[in-house]
Amino acid sequence: MIRLSTGIPDFDKLIEGGIPQGFFVAVTGEPGTGKTIFSLHFIAEGLKEGDNCIYVTTEESRDSIIRQAKQFNWDFEEYIEKKLIIIDALMKEKDDEWSLTEVTPEELVNKVIAAKQRLGQGRARLVIDSVSALFLDKPAMARKISYYLKRVLNKWKFTIYATSQYAITTSQAFGFGVEHVADGIIRFRRRIKDGMLHRYVIIEKMRQTNHDKHVWEIDIKPGKGIVLLGKLEERREDYALPPKVMQKIKEASEKEENEL
Ligand SMILES: Nc1ncnc2c1ncn2[C@@H]1O[C@H](COP(=O)(O)OP(=O)(O)OP(=O)(O)O)[C@@H](O)[C@H]1O
Ligand SMILES: [Mg+2]
Repeated sequence: MIRLSTGIPDFDKLIEGGIPQGFFVAVTGEPGTGKTIFSLHFIAEGLKEGDNCIYVTTEESRDSIIRQAKQFNWDFEEYIEKKLIIIDALMKEKDDEWSLTEVTPEELVNKVIAAKQRLGQGRARLVIDSVSALFLDKPAMARKISYYLKRVLNKWKFTIYATSQYAITTSQAFGFGVEHVADGIIRFRRRIKDGMLHRYVIIEKMRQTNHDKHVWEIDIKPGKGIVLLGKLEERREDYALPPKVMQKIKEASEKEENEL
């Protein structure tokens, strides 16, 4: 089986070397948890390996994606039209060939196929960031639309990341449709602990892969991108109660025993 590197060597180790070629992977999580940056790693790695890459951006402009990539020392501009096409579904500029004027599944698929034809033969990576934009106003359609994307794009031999958000208010509705049809689910999470933002990632599903099942704490480092800090279980400070609290529990149980 051919596996594609995620561009994060430590992460590749958790999934037997990489994403199986042709997979449709749901990259899901709350805002600001690292979905876009994780996707940029995948594209940067693709460019490094000579793959054709297509990035559909619905919530950020093309310029914003290029700027963000630059912060991690990936120069996307030099690959544009040669190995990379960024389809901008935010700015909706009519005179821009790679802009989506309407964010519908059909428009998106047509544009992606046109981009693939432009880039030519060869292995291809596709990021749709995010698919949620396709069913914002109709969450009940999430599964159907995701299935449509997977079925149509599968013929074009892409390995796909589809990011999706978890809207707190609408709960699971956004993520689930994508997750059911996906070959893999990579979930990002966040938590405030001791007054600090912590981010985590877990591989919830990766078909045909004996994947790691731990929650990993991650960080996003300037100039570097996503780094794995460690498994949650092995980091005692993440779950151990403060020593003072432990002492109180001990004292209370001793007192209880004495009374008995
Ligand atoms: N140059 C940088 N150095 C360090 N951290 C950065 C840098 N650029 C962005 N970040 C961090 O990455 C976060 C954004 O991550 P990302 O865009 O991947 O999130 P996301 O999951 O795609 O969010 P959304 O659902 O809102 O699109 C920022 O909030 C910031 O904490
Ligand atoms: Mg994002």
